[in-house]
Amino acid sequence: MENNAILKGVLGLAALTGVRKIVVGGGKKLEGELEVQGAKNSILPLLSGTVLCQGESVLHNCPNLSDADAACRILNCLGCKCGREGNRVTVNSEQILNTDVPAELMREMRSSIVFLGAILGRTRQCRLSFPGGCELGPRPIDLHILALKKMGVDIKEEHGYLNCSAPKGIYGARISLSLPSVGATENIILAAATAKGMTEINNAAREPEIVDLAAFLNKCGAKVSGAGTGTIVIEGVPKLGGAEHRVIPDRIVAATYLCCAAITRGELILKNADYSHVGAMIPVLEQIGCNIYTYGSYAHSGEGKIYINAAKSLRAPHKIRTSAHPGFPTDAQPMFMALASTLKGTTVFVETIFDNRFRHAQELTRLGAKISVDNRVAVVEGVEKLSGAELEATDLRGGAALVTAALYAEGTSKITGISHIDRGYDNLVGNLRKIGAEIMNN
Ligand code: EPZ
Repeated sequence: MENNAILKGVLGLAALTGVRKIVVGGGKKLEGELEVQGAKNSILPLLSGTVLCQGESVLHNCPNLSDADAACRILNCLGCKCGREGNRVTVNSEQILNTDVPAELMREMRSSIVFLGAILGRTRQCRLSFPGGCELGPRPIDLHILALKKMGVDIKEEHGYLNCSAPKGIYGARISLSLPSVGATENIILAAATAKGMTEINNAAREPEIVDLAAFLNKCGAKVSGAGTGTIVIEGVPKLGGAEHRVIPDRIVAATYLCCAAITRGELILKNADYSHVGAMIPVLEQIGCNIYTYGSYAHSGEGKIYINAAKSLRAPHKIRTSAHPGFPTDAQPMFMALASTLKGTTVFVETIFDNRFRHAQELTRLGAKISVDNRVAVVEGVEKLSGAELEATDLRGGAALVTAALYAEGTSKITGISHIDRGYDNLVGNLRKIGAEIMNN
């Protein structure tokens, strides 16, 4: 029976159960070209940054994601007018009418803590519920709180809420982070942009999304320098106006598609991709045996392209250790683990950022992968064959890893928990179909 007919049959059954599934018929080589979506981890702090702007901002290349929708709901709750037309999001934040973010909106998206710095920077007060932990383990915000207190913010934690106020205003401060937290760096920049005086962040996060936030704020009239390095200096200005900005490409989505091409031994051109953002992952793919070429530069001409050819016998990279940018990103670890499961040899993964970021390993073993996990170390012994199974996504990148592995596995795989995947991937199924995958949403 032809594979698509089997897929349709499985879908019919799935539709009866009412559970949304991604159904994959594995074993197809992926070939073609794809455009990389705008970055989820950039659009969220950028949307928060619009709260600081007393005017209208337009953000282009905004991906269609449930997390971005949640951020727009928070903006509307604050009194901003946030509207979307395709990939263009317009935010009019002339007026901020409310400084409380309700718990249900905070719970929708853990990273909504990044609104704290912007709301304080604009209104000098804010009340929001403690963001919960998530599937990756506890997600503390002690570094955010410590820094904001140093900037003159009074923060009371009571009944699961943070009650913040800065009646005398927010003051610049010299802040050293005990670890280069992305969210804490973003919150400090957002609070410091309109603070009185100079703020210096030492041991700041260096991710490209931090550079993108600084670029947008500077277009709005802020004075942020050093973004992308470990020391960022922000000279507070009285007010910011709106600006137009294009969101950078999503480096983790780019890595996902590269892994999908590699695991199916295929060939892919990624357009609208910034080679410099995926730097640490390229040598790993080359070590595995993939040919990688890059064309142009997104940063300068917006024309960046990455070409991968994996039609070779590939071998395990032996060790992948995650670390803060510019190191190997923790967010790409799950998809590379799926890929490593199919490579000749053994790969040791060391996860240095999160406590509990190997949950996808258990699901991968259902496909026949050989993975043993001990705390923050996972040992993957590559196998020739994976076979389709029923899988459940438990977090965003873990879900992407399951799709990646299912593309290789013989037979049909059905993946539930796809609301996790919707948080960070704009049309993952449609894009994979475009390059030859036998995959359906239902
Ligand atoms: C951002 O999360 C990203 N999310 C994450 O991507 C990414 O995995 C992470 O950075 C690391 O690169 C967004 O940008 C929306 P951190 P964030 O603060 O800011 C500890 C994805 O898949 N920490 O850099 O929350 C923390 O527990 C998501 O797209 C403290 O101890 O990450 C973690 O172990 C998942 N105290 C480490 O630092 C704090 O106050 C890194 O966290 C803050 C963080």
